[in-house]
Amino acid sequence: MVVSLEVLVGGLRLKHPVMVGSGVLGDKPELIERLVREGDPSAVVTKTLTKYRREGYLPPIIVELGCDSYLNAVGLANPGIEVVNDLVSVGLRYGIPVVVSIAGSSIDEFVELGIKAELGKASAIELNLSCPHVKGLGAELGRDPQTTYEVVRNVKSVVKIPVWVKLGPWDNVVEVASKSLSAGANALVLINTLRGMKIDIYSRKPILTARVGGLSGKALHPVAVRVIYEVYKELKCDIVGVGGVLNHETAIELILAGAKAVQVVSALIKNPPTVIKEIVNSISNYMNEIDIKDIKHLVGAVTHD
Ligand SMILES: Cc1cc2nc3c(=O)[nH]c(=O)nc-3n(C[C@H](O)[C@H](O)[C@H](O)COP(=O)(O)O)c2cc1C
Repeated sequence: MVVSLEVLVGGLRLKHPVMVGSGVLGDKPELIERLVREGDPSAVVTKTLTKYRREGYLPPIIVELGCDSYLNAVGLANPGIEVVNDLVSVGLRYGIPVVVSIAGSSIDEFVELGIKAELGKASAIELNLSCPHVKGLGAELGRDPQTTYEVVRNVKSVVKIPVWVKLGPWDNVVEVASKSLSAGANALVLINTLRGMKIDIYSRKPILTARVGGLSGKALHPVAVRVIYEVYKELKCDIVGVGGVLNHETAIELILAGAKAVQVVSALIKNPPTVIKEIVNSISNYMNEIDIKDIKHLVGAVTHD
């Protein structure tokens, strides 16, 4: 049986539900080209871009925790919004939509970055309102429902392309999600990393230079499933799921919880981009196995009986 994997999510029509999320391999044109050629994702989200280039923290910026889980505090190192055109054009050359992730330190800065992303031909914008380890950017704004509302509304008022809002696994995430949608967000991207810390027991110092980092990978997956489930149950909106997608099982769980599409990030730290193709093929096999013809029948299809 030929299954249909096409999804319409957050204003974009995607050939299948597996894209590359923000953070790994998304800050240089040649890396995006490699992702697209080898992995065939349905879309690529760039590394979060800020107004000016940022060097980020000094190493160590990432700790491997074992079991496909990581703690990172990169400090939003990125080349700055000026490179947006170079990053987007490489995806578009291969017919792959490029979503530009942006983070500002104020509403005005988000607006300025949004305008530049659209001028740079971004297919959509992802507002990073959830980076857990950088002062003045991200989570400090996105935890507050009213500030989130203002950021989304102001960016929406100046751009025509879809605007996605990336949130963290906070206790008030349903409220912030609801505010984002009432401000016009086309999709919610759930979730960013969870704050964590690791200490070297001999030096008795935190291992990461920034001390606190974001937990990602397998250990984050059940948190992502739960947040997506809670938000979808309440708001029945377009969700892009992210958190511990390592294979088709973890991708399908996020879809059953309510995500229309998923993003892969930590899995790309150790695996080549072909992992994306493998996840897509295995989703098709699973659909054949359980006799589901169209991926949209799996979205939010978790049952309770
Ligand atoms: C090394 C690294 C860098 C990241 N950088 C960003 C970033 O720039 N912007 C962002 O929104 N999320 C960033 N993230 C978070 C991921 O996009 C994702 O939300 C999180 O890692 C959970 O997905 P995963 O378990 O598949 O990694 C980063 C994650 C990692 C591991």
